[in-house]
Amino acid sequence: MSTETGHPTSHGTTLTDTALGDLAADVLRANDMGGWTKAAPLLYPHQWSWDSAFVAIGWAQVDVRRAMTEQQRLFEAQWANGMVPQIVFNPLAGPDSYFPDPARWAVEVSPDAPVGVAETSGICQPPVHAIAVARIWEVAAGTEAEADVRAEIRTLFPKLMAWHRYLAEHRDPSGSGLVTTYHPWEGIDNSPRWDAVLERLEVGDVPAYVRRDLSHVADAGQRPSNDAYDRFLWLLELLKRHRYDDAAIHRSYPFLVKDVFLTSVLVMANQALLGLADAVGATSSARAEIESWIARGRSGIASTVDTETGLAYDLDLGTGTPVEIRTFAGLCPLLDAESGDRDRALKNLDSEAFAGHPDLRWAMVPSTSPLEECFDPRNYWRGPVWPIVNWLYWRGLRDGGDLVRADALREASLDSLRHVGFAEYFHPVTGEALGSAMQSWTAAVALDWLAS
Ligand code: SER
Repeated sequence: MSTETGHPTSHGTTLTDTALGDLAADVLRANDMGGWTKAAPLLYPHQWSWDSAFVAIGWAQVDVRRAMTEQQRLFEAQWANGMVPQIVFNPLAGPDSYFPDPARWAVEVSPDAPVGVAETSGICQPPVHAIAVARIWEVAAGTEAEADVRAEIRTLFPKLMAWHRYLAEHRDPSGSGLVTTYHPWEGIDNSPRWDAVLERLEVGDVPAYVRRDLSHVADAGQRPSNDAYDRFLWLLELLKRHRYDDAAIHRSYPFLVKDVFLTSVLVMANQALLGLADAVGATSSARAEIESWIARGRSGIASTVDTETGLAYDLDLGTGTPVEIRTFAGLCPLLDAESGDRDRALKNLDSEAFAGHPDLRWAMVPSTSPLEECFDPRNYWRGPVWPIVNWLYWRGLRDGGDLVRADALREASLDSLRHVGFAEYFHPVTGEALGSAMQSWTAAVALDWLAS
């Protein structure tokens, strides 16, 4: 049974783990386009970069070879400079299916964009891919698929190295250890982390456009505002004028933010890549390069931790000041056992500002702290809970040895999914399903949690 927004009604606690897993696998199969998976049936009809990494983690529990194919397909569209694009467009999706479309991005202005492979956007997203491939390897090892998967990982390994090198070098020319983000669409869309930078923008002529996203959600209050979209689109115009050239962008461009979350995911992904280096017998110089990225990322993150609150804050390069907003990103020292002050980060996690807020339906990490004035519990990244974010924190807790908290977060997350279904995000207090229904990456993390 579905509501008018397409969200299935709650299955409640009666749903067994097996039934939840079957429903999750059905979502992946329904969104499977043959070798790659749509992020969502209507709202996101293409292959998104970090969605596809989570999706591969889900496929690993259904068909481990299919999981590797998901990542191979994405990396076919890797740029010559190593960047893995945020979107690989589905050539068969109609021109009205999603905006901005390939024509708006016009990435052919860059000599690095892939030619004759697939059309892509011109920015990137958090590098969850090595984490996904390491998880696939864990699932495949010791099974009849081991040799095939190892062979696939051998072909992907140099591409993963090039991707991480792109982030470590092109996105951090000063060697600060912190990755620069250029655009809200590089992952966290309308998070209040970007408000001040976006407000400073002097928006110039944005060619006319029609938003397609609003026709696929129940109400506009769940999505970024029109004003935010104008600013997103203006940034796109500027990136295009810079021909997507990282050096030119770092020289003069109004949205340059040292992103603590992106950096922490890169540290996590580099740890996963070290594990893959063992699996494929990589050279000692490859290992040393990965280790240097990890060390640099850790000291970068440690430098962003606010002494007063213990939260990691992004650095706005436009003003040289930290972005002091309490969002899930502030907890990112928890994603890696050796970045920043873990004890303080754990206290923050448990506090009323995050998973310990008494009104939350489940003790999970909301996208924006309920104590922030701008907290908006139904609007995209301004308050709702995103299961994939909680999956990353669960991994960080588990790998850092906080097993009791990790188990509690996994239990709370699975319980939320039983009630909410595989929504893109949900209301932290009421548990109302929000955004798209049948979101692939939500189903994917359910499958992984069930298997863990
Ligand atoms: N999440 C973005 C969107 O809303 C794109 O990455 O379309």
